[in-house]
This record gives sequence, structure tokens and C-alpha cells, in this order.
Amino acid sequence: MENILISGVCGRIGSAACELLVQNKYANIVGLDIAPTLPTNIIQLKSKITFYHGSLTDYELLLKILKDENISIIVHLAAVPDDAEPSILLPPNVTGVALVLKAVAAINTKNQIKRLIIASSGKLYCGYNSVTTPLKIDAPYSPRCLYGATKAFAEAAAESFALSSKLPTILLRFAWCPRTLADVEAMKQITEKGLGKDEFLSPRDAASCIYRACSVELPSDFVYAPLFVQSNPPPGRNGRFDISNTTKLLNGWQPKDTFPAGIEEICKDRIMNVQLKKRESNGYNIGVKSDDGLYLRLLNTKETTNGRNILQHSVKQRVSAEEWQLRIELAACYRVFAALKWT
Ligand SMILES: NC(=O)c1ccc[n+]([C@@H]2O[C@H](COP(=O)([O-])OP(=O)(O)OC[C@H]3O[C@@H](n4cnc5c(N)ncnc54)[C@H](O)[C@@H]3O)[C@@H](O)[C@H]2O)c1
Repeated sequence: MENILISGVCGRIGSAACELLVQNKYANIVGLDIAPTLPTNIIQLKSKITFYHGSLTDYELLLKILKDENISIIVHLAAVPDDAEPSILLPPNVTGVALVLKAVAAINTKNQIKRLIIASSGKLYCGYNSVTTPLKIDAPYSPRCLYGATKAFAEAAAESFALSSKLPTILLRFAWCPRTLADVEAMKQITEKGLGKDEFLSPRDAASCIYRACSVELPSDFVYAPLFVQSNPPPGRNGRFDISNTTKLLNGWQPKDTFPAGIEEICKDRIMNVQLKKRESNGYNIGVKSDDGLYLRLLNTKETTNGRNILQHSVKQRVSAEEWQLRIELAACYRVFAALKWT
């Protein structure tokens, strides 16, 4: 049996993953959280898991847990999960990630730890706003808050660590798993394509993806992969993120839920974390390249109201010049085929 450390085990995603791994008797679960006690949804598992109350930023504690519990897989979820003041956000989300990697390097001289799974976030892609086709896994980041920037740090730190240490590392970019019933209500109000319910992630789908990331046999030369994790979009809609790589790498993993499945039980006892900034209403500034391509400027209101299609404009900004040209040629071909009634 594996010994899995879940940091942030008291959180929505951590507790759901813990429950699934314990129920399936896949692993001995060791949990670490700054919250003093397990949440109500997994309190019944108290006797089946080893719980450490402490902070991610306590390096000695991290070392002790990895050694004493003979940890073989780390699922690193602990973080401040949304935007907040730098003094609150940076210690867990930046220093914490760096300390986890440092502790792994320190104890892994005999390859005790076999795999790392690290949480990232779809919030890295806020700047795309509404999207008609799912965002690809290699789409450039477009963060719009410090929280998104901390996840960009986590991704870069994890990738460089994986490449230098050769420790297989999977980075899970979770979509939006609501934290309170107020969040759920906010999701219901959003109707733009690729937002709100289209970016929903249920705790159960997050957990099944983590389970698969822990247990799947990876290619022998595997080192690192970022993967999107999202539930199914409502019927007739596209999801915000393209999860095809997740399905391929994780041996056919598929989400099962659609908004709002599984929300009530995870949100019912949770209240808004007062340390977090109030979630922004839908819509972020769009940065577009200047005509000479040297810098980003803000898309101005006139451009958005003068009949120019913002979405088309932003697609042009985020694909290469060659791809944009190809898209135009393809569209022209399609029109010719349609005129000839070949379609
Ligand atoms: N829920 C979402 O919509 C969402 C989306 C994308 C990414 N994520 C990421 O997924 C991970 C889990 O998120 P969640 O939704 O379960 O959030 P959550 O807030 O419910 O859980 C995070 C847990 O980490 C713990 N924690 C915070 N600081 C800590 C510290 N210094 N030491 C130890 N524990 C600490 C908290 O007490 C909490 O139990 C986070 O990394 C988050 O950034 C979440």
C-alpha cells in the first residue's frame, strides 16, 4: 500500500480525495492542514487516517512527516485558494510550494518518494474571459490576480524541480470547485460561454482525478505534465478547458458530474474564508498586443462597442501569426466549398 501525504486535507478537494482513497483502501492517508480538526464530511474517517495539525511553512514538520510516515506519494493541495493580501497569500502559495520541493529533495536520496501531484488553477486563464472553444493545455497563462500569479510560480517551480530531480510530477489545473453556496449562486448567474457552469468542477470529479493521478501507470520516460481537471459542461455547451490530455494520460479518466452535482454536501458547513478577497464579478480586462507586437495594451471600450468582436480579436492575439493565417485560409476554403455545395 502507498503512503500518501495530502496537504490541505481539510479542504473541499483534499477531503473529497481523502475519502475516496480511504474508501478504496488504496493507500494509508497522512493529512496535513493548518485547520485544527478534520471537517464534518470526513470526521468519520478520523481513526483511519493520520492527521498532522500544522503549517506547510514549517520545514522541520514537513521533513518529519515525509520521514516518519515513509511517504511515497505527495498530493500537494494546501494553499490559500483565491486572491488575498500578499502577506496571507505568499507564505503558503509560494514559500510553501518551495519548501515542499526542498523537503522532497532532502529526503529523496533513496527514491522513497515516487510521485508528486501538485494543485494549480484554471485561474491562470482568467484573462481569456468568455471562450467558445475549450482552452488548450498549452495556451499561454493569462492571470488577472496575485493568486493566479502564485499558481504560475507553483507550475514553474514544479516543472523545473521535476526536470532536475526526474521525479514524476503531475500538475492538476483545477477548474472552479465552489467553496460556498453563495459561490454556487454566483455560478448560476453567469451565462457567457466557457464561464460559470461551463467551468464547474465537482469535488467528486476532482477526487477521482487525484486518485487516478496517484495510481495510474505512467510511461517509463514520464517526468512532468500539466493537466486540466473539470466536470462535464451542461448539455449543449462546451467546457472551459480541454481535458483530452487528462483523459489520455490518466488511462481514460472522465468526469462524471455536471453542475451542480455534489455541491451541497461539501458546501453546507463551509463559510467564506474572510481572508479571501471578494470574488470579482464576471469579466476581466483584456490585454492585447500593440500593433508592433512589442507590448500589451488594454483593449479599449470603443473596440468592444464598435462592432469589433472581442473574442475573435483575442483569439488572434493568442495564436501565432502562422496559425491565424491558416485559420483565415481554412475559413476561405470552407466558404468556397459551401458555395459549391461540397459541404
Ligand atoms: N476550489 C477551486 O475552485 C480551486 C480551483 C483551482 C485550484 N484550486 C486549488 O486546489 C487546492 C485545494 O483547494 P480547495 O478548493 O480544496 O481549497 P480549500 O481552501 O477548501 O482547502 C485548502 C486547505 O489548505 C489548508 N491550508 C491553507 N494554508 C495552509 C498552510 N499554510 N499549511 C497547511 N494547510 C494550509 C486550508 O486550511 C484548507 O483546508 C488549492 O491549491 C487551490 O488553490 C482550487
